[in-house]
Amino acid sequence: MNVTILYYTKTGHTLEAATAVAEGIRSAGSEAELVPIEDAVLESLADSAGLIVASPCWAGSITPSGVARPVAEVLDSLPPDCLSGKRCGGVAVHSTTGGKRTVKTLGRRLADKGCTDYRAGPAAKAGSALSLWKGPSVQPDDEERFRAYGADFVA
Ligand SMILES: Cc1cc2nc3c(=O)[nH]c(=O)nc-3n(C[C@H](O)[C@H](O)[C@H](O)COP(=O)(O)O)c2cc1C
Repeated sequence: MNVTILYYTKTGHTLEAATAVAEGIRSAGSEAELVPIEDAVLESLADSAGLIVASPCWAGSITPSGVARPVAEVLDSLPPDCLSGKRCGGVAVHSTTGGKRTVKTLGRRLADKGCTDYRAGPAAKAGSALSLWKGPSVQPDDEERFRAYGADFVA
């Protein structure tokens, strides 16, 4: 199974999470391609059997969304039903709280584009509020959870 992992990152933590997910997918014998969400190309998404979106939590503790704005914009721009028949997933990082809500919201936004098979992934703590300071990286235990999620995603 080939999986495209679209990620957005400002200070690097979501890429740490997405990289661990990709490692898990590859360890299970499948292919994973990491793509900055700004570079997402509809045709290449169509060629992937799986799509995972990795987003930092933005304003997730106070709004019903929590998805980083650039991620929301790209997902909104996708044509309706373009994810029909595709296995989809989502993971998030947050500095304090809201990551689980981000993962849930990613599922809702992907469902809006036709996904009926959403596998919610882990959310982990990293960084600092508003990313004014880079803060701590994704911790080894959490990297392991992201790897396990990647391996399960393609099982
Ligand atoms: C605009 C903005 C809003 C944020 N809102 C939240 C929040 O609601 N809850 C939280 O725990 N962290 C919040 N953060 C912190 C980031 O989620 C955290 O630092 C994350 O690790 C950043 O990921 P990145 O390094 O991939 O950019 C916010 C960061 C920014 C820039």
